[in-house]
Amino acid sequence: WQKQPFYGTHQAGILTPQQAAMMLVAFDVLATNKQDLERLFRLLTTRIVFLTHGGRAPEVDPKLPPLDSGIMGPEIYPDNLTITLSVGASLFDERFGLQASKPLHLQKMTRFPNDSLDAALCHGDLLLQICANTNETVIHALRDIIKHSPDLLSVRWRREGFISAHSARSQGQETPINLLGFKDGTANPKTSDNSLMDQVVWVGDNAGEPAWAVGGSYQAARLIRFHVEFWDRTPLQEQQTIFGREKHSGAPLGMKHEHDEPDYANDPEGKMIPLDAHIRLANPRTPVTESSLMLRRGYSYSLGVSNSGQLEMGLLFICYQSDLEKGFLTVQKRLNGEALEEYIRPIGGGYFFALPGVKAPDDYFASGLL
Ligand code: HEM
Repeated sequence: WQKQPFYGTHQAGILTPQQAAMMLVAFDVLATNKQDLERLFRLLTTRIVFLTHGGRAPEVDPKLPPLDSGIMGPEIYPDNLTITLSVGASLFDERFGLQASKPLHLQKMTRFPNDSLDAALCHGDLLLQICANTNETVIHALRDIIKHSPDLLSVRWRREGFISAHSARSQGQETPINLLGFKDGTANPKTSDNSLMDQVVWVGDNAGEPAWAVGGSYQAARLIRFHVEFWDRTPLQEQQTIFGREKHSGAPLGMKHEHDEPDYANDPEGKMIPLDAHIRLANPRTPVTESSLMLRRGYSYSLGVSNSGQLEMGLLFICYQSDLEKGFLTVQKRLNGEALEEYIRPIGGGYFFALPGVKAPDDYFASGLL
């Protein structure tokens, strides 16, 4: 019954080693004034404290609806659950009078050249990233939150994702493999390095951001569909040059081991790792591009079949950074036109701000904002 700590300067579910199961759920907030918004944040705090700590579901008179869905049995166990709450730019519109408190770089996601955004899969006032060891724990948590907030929240879109159980069990030691068959997450900055995380992931108190936002993080979520049938007919060599890495070992092309550093200085023409390879564009490793680091925490998704009979699968791309412009937006602009684009199609997502952590039992989410 692994338990993740809830209280702290930062929320759990960001540096936490990736659990096997996850769900992204975006909501529209139905509250129409600041008092009800505060009630919502207090309620979410109470529910998330309960769900992540576990305990017995309260019993009620059988003439009333049960207080818990029951899908985990009478005893709710933590199961490594984290529920990470973030807010979209739309929360800072005129409804709640919070316009002046919006994190500086928070904005509505707009279309990139290769995107086919489906409006039904984009944006949201709130986003929950729910992760746990098993799907039923994730689903139980969502059902609990929805049951307790009928007058305050309405689901806008939702996607479930997974990484291999093997990788999840390794507690971050084994890099997950995505549905194109490549290790995904290798070059992430080290989450155990606190000062690096303060620079790359967390909003600090000298960033010029509103004081309440310190300790939070910008989150970019992108639902990216893969054309897997087409990919599976692509020669291995081409797959590898598209990413710039060996498929099985994950090593940069020309190197031996997964965590070897690519040596771009000695390959200026891209003979070994093409100049438009995904990793080279994403992180050219020059002093100038150091500021565009981010922490990726993606999951695979797999649904049914499209109208044209193609498998619907892909990546729930999620990344965290202290500055959305320097991180995701800069990197995505460099990736525009990359060779990988032929095989992928971003279809949804949005930009959010993961709130600072809830510090202690008398605190609640966004208390500094309200
Ligand atoms: C690296 C896959 C989209 C940013 C990688 C790697 C793979 C990969 C296999 C190499 C291993 C690693 O370091 O993790 C994909 C796939 C994508 C996708 C399949 C979508 C279809 C994105 C997007 C961004 C991004 C949208 C950001 C805008 C990065 C970064 C690296 C990376 C920063 C590390 C590069 C390095 O430091 O060497 N990706 N990625 N990726 N990707 Fe992506």
